[in-house]
Amino acid sequence: MQHQWWKEAVVYQIYPRSFKDSNGDGIGDLNGITEKLDYLQELGVDVIWICPIYASPNDDNGYDISNYYEIMKEFGTLQDFERMLAEIHKRGMRLVMDLVVNHTSDEHAWFVESRKSKDNPYRDFYIWRPGKNGREPNNWLSYFSGSAWQFDETTGEYYLHLFSRKQPDLNWENDQLRKAVYEMMRFWLDKGIDGFRMDVINHISKVPGLPDAPNPNSQGYAWGGEFFANGPRVHEFIQEMNREVLSHYDIMTVGETGAVTPHDAILYAGEDRHELNMVFQFEHTDLDAGPGGKWDVVPWKLSDLKEVMSRWQYELYGKAWNSLYLNNHDQPRSVSRFGDDKKYRVESAKMLATFLHLQQGTPYIYQGEEIGMTNVAFSSIEDYRDVEIHNLWRERVIESGEDPERLLQAIHQKGRDNARTPMQWNAGENAGFSTAKPWIQVNPNYREINVEAELANPNSIFHYYQQLIQLRKQNPLVVYGRYQLISEEHPDIYAYTRTMNENVWLVLCNFYGRETVWEKPKELASYQIAELKLGNYPIQSTHLSIDRISLRPYEALVLALQPNL
Ligand code: NOJ
Repeated sequence: MQHQWWKEAVVYQIYPRSFKDSNGDGIGDLNGITEKLDYLQELGVDVIWICPIYASPNDDNGYDISNYYEIMKEFGTLQDFERMLAEIHKRGMRLVMDLVVNHTSDEHAWFVESRKSKDNPYRDFYIWRPGKNGREPNNWLSYFSGSAWQFDETTGEYYLHLFSRKQPDLNWENDQLRKAVYEMMRFWLDKGIDGFRMDVINHISKVPGLPDAPNPNSQGYAWGGEFFANGPRVHEFIQEMNREVLSHYDIMTVGETGAVTPHDAILYAGEDRHELNMVFQFEHTDLDAGPGGKWDVVPWKLSDLKEVMSRWQYELYGKAWNSLYLNNHDQPRSVSRFGDDKKYRVESAKMLATFLHLQQGTPYIYQGEEIGMTNVAFSSIEDYRDVEIHNLWRERVIESGEDPERLLQAIHQKGRDNARTPMQWNAGENAGFSTAKPWIQVNPNYREINVEAELANPNSIFHYYQQLIQLRKQNPLVVYGRYQLISEEHPDIYAYTRTMNENVWLVLCNFYGRETVWEKPKELASYQIAELKLGNYPIQSTHLSIDRISLRPYEALVLALQPNL
């Protein structure tokens, strides 16, 4: 397996709108990020991925870009960007930018031109079709509720938007469009950035003819994923992008790829494929989705988590590289979802970190995860800001009369705004995020959960993450060792080993708020404990016998093993 800096790195994800406001307008900004770089350096992360900071009318908080060459006004200027980048590099860290090229904003100059007339030179930069039998060109659903098509009066045709109406999909079949995208990528790379996280990059190639999707709902719409996820030309496009742009720089790339299997991931990120370095998969974040999809929330099962994570570990081993994440700006907070955000918040946050960071792959920490930030539960829909949530509400409650309380409950569990409340810096006004009223309310638990308190407490979640990151830096086994799930049938414990040459480490994670016992399985018969590497409870390894280990609520242990004498 090839050794690469991005395999050894830990990435920290910033949602700039909610990270730190430096100019008192209630919105996070670039100077706010620069202010906090010492904090990130202290945490020990190597790479910072910042969600989109380009000019945008903010229908989807920057994922609707109106100018790829400009910084969003609320976030600052190009000079602020350059200063931030220099300060990141000065601290030995790197910067990954978001690349959003499946769609633009409808306010992007290309789209403004495109919608003017059928023979406009930019018409074909987007996906336009005439209606069919008085309806949309096909039956595809948008990810943000309703049809994926919007009728446009000027030319009497519809344009495709897999996301919001203000996010028209680009037409990657068009050579000029692809060239324009590559040129824009070079512009940022030439400024010295260190890579891209590519938004829904496996959606850029649509099946020609844009066929109707099967199994329509009562309104006649269906999810058309099989016709736009992992489409027919997607690898050709990404290989072209690699040849034209990526291969000329020492950078890291990670593709956001919904609806991928490990087999697909190897095509996107295989070591010999000349495409991307790694992808984000969604199988583990789909485990609490019922038959009705994301908002039909069901309890996830530990056995499923073991199955999914282990399958990705095994299938990618030696062929492609995993990205490891439990939350991001689109997902609920990991401690609320997979741990216990009340009684055992601290223990479970540390356990989840251990569980994730000891697997093979590049770990991603989402802002606030390192201090155990939790989901929020606003009591009124008015307090939410996310376009996905508001469209859902309109469709289900306002138009279809669904029970508002039930939907609000699902939003509390799954809504994207859970991840977007302001970063909690201290117990002061607005959690130290801003001197003005923040664009979205602060989670009321900021008085207990905040950076200042975490830094002051030697046993905090923050300091545990620091140790975890250092463990990785000091032990190549954490990066390159082979993963093996053990004690598969255990109902409470997720257990696995990592092996490199003669070194074997054992990771034990209790996923529940009760004590449980782990007994040494046959495959470890010839091993004993050599050393306790890390644990989330105070403990001495001399008190441990590998034959039978009792784990306290959400306890996690990382043990180096050695052969019996
Ligand atoms: C995925 C991004 O992570 C999400 O925040 C965004 O809404 C969609 N792609 C559309 O760009």
